[in-house]
Amino acid sequence: MNSVDRIFAPALDLDDRLADAATWEHGGRLWPSAEQQTLTCCRVIDETHDIKSFEFRTADGLPVRFEPGQFMTVSANVHGQSVERCYTISSAPTRPFLLSITVKRVPGGIMSNWLHDNMKPGCHLRAYGPSGAFTPTIAPAAKSLYLSAGSGVTPLMSMTRASIDLGLDRDIVFIHSARTPADIVFRDELARFAKLSPRLRVFFVCEGIGDDAAWNGPIGRLSLQLLMQWAPDYLEREVFTCGPAGYMSAVRTLLREGGHDPARYHQESFDIGAGVAPEPAQKEAGAAQETFTVKLSRSSKSFTMNASHTVLSAAKKAGVAVPSSCSQGMCGTCKTKVLEGTVDMKHNGGIRDREVQKGFRLLCCSRPTSDLVLEL
Ligand SMILES: Cc1cc2nc3c(=O)[nH]c(=O)nc-3n(C[C@H](O)[C@H](O)[C@H](O)COP(=O)(O)OP(=O)(O)OC[C@H]3O[C@@H](n4cnc5c(N)ncnc54)[C@H](O)[C@@H]3O)c2cc1C
Ligand code: FES
Repeated sequence: MNSVDRIFAPALDLDDRLADAATWEHGGRLWPSAEQQTLTCCRVIDETHDIKSFEFRTADGLPVRFEPGQFMTVSANVHGQSVERCYTISSAPTRPFLLSITVKRVPGGIMSNWLHDNMKPGCHLRAYGPSGAFTPTIAPAAKSLYLSAGSGVTPLMSMTRASIDLGLDRDIVFIHSARTPADIVFRDELARFAKLSPRLRVFFVCEGIGDDAAWNGPIGRLSLQLLMQWAPDYLEREVFTCGPAGYMSAVRTLLREGGHDPARYHQESFDIGAGVAPEPAQKEAGAAQETFTVKLSRSSKSFTMNASHTVLSAAKKAGVAVPSSCSQGMCGTCKTKVLEGTVDMKHNGGIRDREVQKGFRLLCCSRPTSDLVLEL
């Protein structure tokens, strides 16, 4: 069963076979998360005043297989430093020859500004992935509620694009929150999709009208009242949410107050700080006072660390360069083989069971339980 199958079964039939024939069977291939690809930029699209989409093809031109909602980790040399960040693949897996990411320019941000200012057609970008478990596969449902804010629209857009491409007319209520009408990403495309697919209903809510005096949609934030108006059956829906940490926290509260089952709530955080593996609870802190030695097999370096810290943070403190991005056990960038010793790893889907069996661990969410030798 391929990934598209798993996402939309049992609705797939002819569409699925077409997708299969067009892609995977004729040269399509899975992109293992540990494998680095060189992507070539072929188009840059201005989505809003501070959001651009970048479209890429692989260096060998082969299609790439991923699930809607997954992200890739891009890597670039910015001012002489290697910088890595995660970006959701905003395009759909049903169009596997062009991968797109949609990036918001973050004031003072290294990678987002670099991409906005430098990434042009013909330029290359290194990328790892795809990774991530924020896909419809985790909770196949007859009815979905997609809630997004700002650039958090990207995983839900990939899911919606895939559904439209496959002609599935799935029952989706998609509510996107933006600062002003001018900040709504994919506004026209979503409106067009809603015309194509009667059971897809798209709504926008803006905090203010900005320069758009013609805005006739609601002003303010998503409320239970709006939710009940647009999705009166929201209690029956599988909820997928993505946006800034504050937005997602407000959404969780609102749904809880409305009686929605938390087991049917799924979210993706773009907020690096929000998901950093927490320090141990007070009762574990005594045990975590132990210190261990970490040796690096390739460089012959070593450092000591407290068991309460993650191996990644200790390595960085010791001046050891370890590739990393999300710091949440999601992207797989910090995956490293542990040659000797044991760690306690609490990841968020950034590593597969078979990789764990082979001795790999994610250093950003692993704490040592003995001395270690790492393949670094
Ligand atoms: C799974 C996942 C998927 C994602 N998908 C998307 C997506 O589809 N689209 C998207 O736009 N983003 C996405 N992101 C977020 C993205 O990875 C980056 O975090 C974002 O683009 C900012 O990166 P940056 O390098 O520009 O900013 P950074 O350089 O990381 O800076 C981030 C913020 O911290 C501040 N800052 C930086 N250094 C310091 C410092 N020393 N002291 C104080 N403040 C500082 C900056 O001013 C800025 O406000 C995703 C993240 C994850 C984890
Ligand atoms: S840095 Fe993303 S999994 Fe460790």
